[in-house]
Amino acid sequence: MKELQVNGQRLWQTIMETARFGGTEKGGVCRLTLSDADRQVRDWFVSECEAAGCAVSIDEMGSIFAWRPGKMDKLLPVAIGSHLDTQPSGGKFDGIAGVLSGLEVLRTLNEAGYTTDAPLELIDWTNEEGSRFTPPMLASGVFAGVFERDFAYAVVDRDGKRFVEELERIGYRGQRKCGDYKLGAYFELHIEQGPVLEAENKTIGVVTGMQGQKWYEVTVTGQDAHAGSTPMRLRRDALVACARMVESIQKIALNHAPLAVATVGLVVVRPNSRNVIPGSVFFTVDLRHPDDDVLLQMDRELREKVNAIAKESDVEAKLVNNWNVAAMEFDRECINQVRNAAEALGYRHRDIISGAGHDAVYIARVAPTGMIFIPCEQGISHNELEKTTSEYIAAGANVLLHTVLAYDEARNEARR
Ligand code: GLV
Ligand code: MN
Ligand code: MN
Repeated sequence: MKELQVNGQRLWQTIMETARFGGTEKGGVCRLTLSDADRQVRDWFVSECEAAGCAVSIDEMGSIFAWRPGKMDKLLPVAIGSHLDTQPSGGKFDGIAGVLSGLEVLRTLNEAGYTTDAPLELIDWTNEEGSRFTPPMLASGVFAGVFERDFAYAVVDRDGKRFVEELERIGYRGQRKCGDYKLGAYFELHIEQGPVLEAENKTIGVVTGMQGQKWYEVTVTGQDAHAGSTPMRLRRDALVACARMVESIQKIALNHAPLAVATVGLVVVRPNSRNVIPGSVFFTVDLRHPDDDVLLQMDRELREKVNAIAKESDVEAKLVNNWNVAAMEFDRECINQVRNAAEALGYRHRDIISGAGHDAVYIARVAPTGMIFIPCEQGISHNELEKTTSEYIAAGANVLLHTVLAYDEARNEARR
């Protein structure tokens, strides 16, 4: 079976085909979770999985499971997955490359007439991005028991729309209890979303784990006042205080260089009128580091800075830590299977820690899990211009295919 290869051209065309659901003028994709575009791509995905001979089911969180029978259907399935939702100005590959490579693996096995021992399960997890509904990795989190289903249902977007109502609106509130059954293993292919593989001319990243992350929401309250008649010394300008906080957050990351990163990605200024001193600002903070102790130190520095700047600026600041995930390592055997497949197929590879969050991080809590990275141009992602090549995607999908086959084979050996 070593010679079996995916159809790289078909995979590329499939990715381009789905990019029209939520496609933007600049060539990117805006497919926010549970939007109409999300529904369109899901409908397309369900019908393609059925056409590939899979039985499709939807769970209570709207995640889609496409089941391909094995020779021994009592065995736990070997799963492949990622996400079809995107950032508001997302690209064609973040998440999508993983789900559609999984579909290509199934199509390739169908053409070869190959049946694995264990069944295979291809999964699209709902709301990986966390852009519209926070926290991210929400459905995989419920699946893994990190979040309660009803907590997820009650999450609201910035227009006050509830997750569960939007799930119903697009027709994807399924019957299957989320997390009611076990996966034998889980593999996810993803673009790297960073510059390392390209810079080192490597085709495959063997992902060994993920860095820790902490998310926050900060509300700064000063006082709305007239821009013309309020002297500078009497102002309680929430935006000026926010600006100082943003700069100090950048410095927190620089203090813990080179591995720390810190981002303020969302700012809402109120009342946002050119001749009103802003009385209120809401902003988000994203802190990440591969070492949880350093991340905790960054957390302390953030709290100190926000409080000190609020005091000096005569404003109030309320900081809420709304999501945390600890640094983690993937399963040894899964990592080895990915590395062995890359090696056997002759691809240049290296071990790598993920800077981004992925559903695999939560699924790793309930099943042996591994990830495969492929390069993306200049490491640019969460951007409409996100790019990779059909050769890299085909290489990643071949590694995915052979990792899954080798994992299935190894389990069979172990049972003998
Ligand atoms: C997910 O896309 C992340 O922010 O890492
Ligand atoms: Mn992603
Ligand atoms: Mn993303």
